[in-house]
Amino acid sequence: MTPTETTTILVADDEPTNLAILGHLLSPHYRVRAVRSGEQALQAAVTAPIPDLILLDIMMPGMNGMAVLRNLKASPATSDIPVIFITAMISPESEEEGLRLGAVDYLTKPITPATALARIRTHLELKQARDRLASQNNWLEQEVRRRMDDIRELERQLYRSQKMEALGTLASGIAHDLNNMLQPIVGLSEMALKEADAQDRNSKRLRHVYDAACRARDLVLRIKLFSRDAEPVKQRIGLAALCNEAEPLIRSLVPASIDLDLKLHQGADHIVADASQIITALLNLASNAIDAVQGIKGRIRVTVERVDIGEPLDHTLSDPPAPGPHACLAVSDNGCGIPAELIEKVFDPFFTTKPPGAGTGLGLSMVHGIVSQHGGAIGITSAMGAGTTISLYLPLAPQKEE
Ligand SMILES: Nc1ncnc2c1ncn2[C@@H]1O[C@H](COP(=O)(O)OP(=O)(O)O)[C@@H](O)[C@H]1O
Ligand SMILES: [Mg+2]
Repeated sequence: MTPTETTTILVADDEPTNLAILGHLLSPHYRVRAVRSGEQALQAAVTAPIPDLILLDIMMPGMNGMAVLRNLKASPATSDIPVIFITAMISPESEEEGLRLGAVDYLTKPITPATALARIRTHLELKQARDRLASQNNWLEQEVRRRMDDIRELERQLYRSQKMEALGTLASGIAHDLNNMLQPIVGLSEMALKEADAQDRNSKRLRHVYDAACRARDLVLRIKLFSRDAEPVKQRIGLAALCNEAEPLIRSLVPASIDLDLKLHQGADHIVADASQIITALLNLASNAIDAVQGIKGRIRVTVERVDIGEPLDHTLSDPPAPGPHACLAVSDNGCGIPAELIEKVFDPFFTTKPPGAGTGLGLSMVHGIVSQHGGAIGITSAMGAGTTISLYLPLAPQKEE
C-alpha cells in the first residue's frame, strides 16, 4: 500500500498563507487537516481522522513546535506519528534538539514543492512499512503464543494419559492380588455361614467377615473398571435406547426434590459398547450430580445426542476425541461446580472432596477407564456455583451392512 488521499496529513502553522500554500501542494495527494496553533495541533493529533504524518511549524505563538513535539512523543497514542518540522531558518543546535526529540526531518521555507512532496512521501512510506512490520510482529508473537499453548496442552494431555496408564497398571496389580486373597475369604466365610448355627456368636462375627469381604470384592471390581482390567463385552447398541432403559434406575437414585430431565435423541447413535459399563458410567455421573446439588433447588439433565467433532474440543480431559461423528452422553447439573485447580484431579483414583464414607473417589476414574476402553473421550466444563457438565464422547459404530 502506498500513501493515498485517505492518508491524512496534519499541518500546523500560525501563518494562514503558509497553511494555504501547503494545503494547495498536498491536497491533490492527501487528505489535509490544517490548524493554527500548537495547542490545536495536539488536539487534532488525537481526533479522527488520526494524522499519518504531521508538518509542524517551529515558531508559533503560545506552544511552539518543539513543545508540541515533546508532548506528542510523551503520549503512546501519538508517539508513533512522524513529525516533520517546517522552518524559515534554524540554528544547528535547535535542529539537533528537534532530531533528538524525535522529528524525522526538516523542510525549510520557502518550500520547494517537488522536494517537500518527495520527503513527505518517503516518510509516509517508512511509517507504513514500520506499521506493517509491527502488525506482522504482533501476529507472529500471537502465533508463537498460540503454538506454545498448543504444545503445553499436548504435554498436559500426554502427562495425564501417562499418569492414568501408570496408575492403571498399579491398580490392576493390586486388584489382581487382592482378588486372589478375597476369593477364599468370601467363599469360605459364605460356606461356614451356611453351616453355622445362626444363634451362635461366631456366626454373627462370620457375617461381618463375609459382608466386609463382599464390600472389598466390590471395590476391587471398581478398581478393575478404572484400570481397564474388566474386559468389556461389547455389542452394537443404541445409546439413547440404552439410557432410556436405565431411566427408572436413575430416577430411583434421584430424590424427588431434584428436577431430573432426560433428553435422549434416538437415532444414528449406535455404538459398539458394553451396555453394563456404559450404565455404570452414567450412574456414577448421575450420583455425582446428585451430590453436587445438595441443599439447592437441584436440576440434573441427561442428554444423548449425535455430535460431529470437527475442531479439536477445548475442554477434554482425556486424549482428545478423533474428529468425526460421535454419540455424546452428557450429564449436567446446576450444582456447586468444580474449582478450576481441581478439574485435573477429579479423574484420579481415590480423589474425593467428600467426607469419609460419602465418597470413594473411584466414580470418575471408573468412568475414565470405561470411556478409554471404548475409544472415547471425556469433556468437562464447570463453573463454581453454576454447575458442571460432563460429556462422554463415544465413537459411532460403523454403518450396519443391510
Ligand atoms: N458434578 C459434579 N459437581 C461437582 N463436583 C464434582 C462433580 N462430579 C465430580 N465432582 C468432584 O470430583 C470428585 C471425584 O468424583 P468421583 O470420582 O465420582 O468420587 P466421589 O464421588 O466418590 O467423591 C468428587 O469428590 C467431587 O469433588
Ligand atoms: Mg462419585
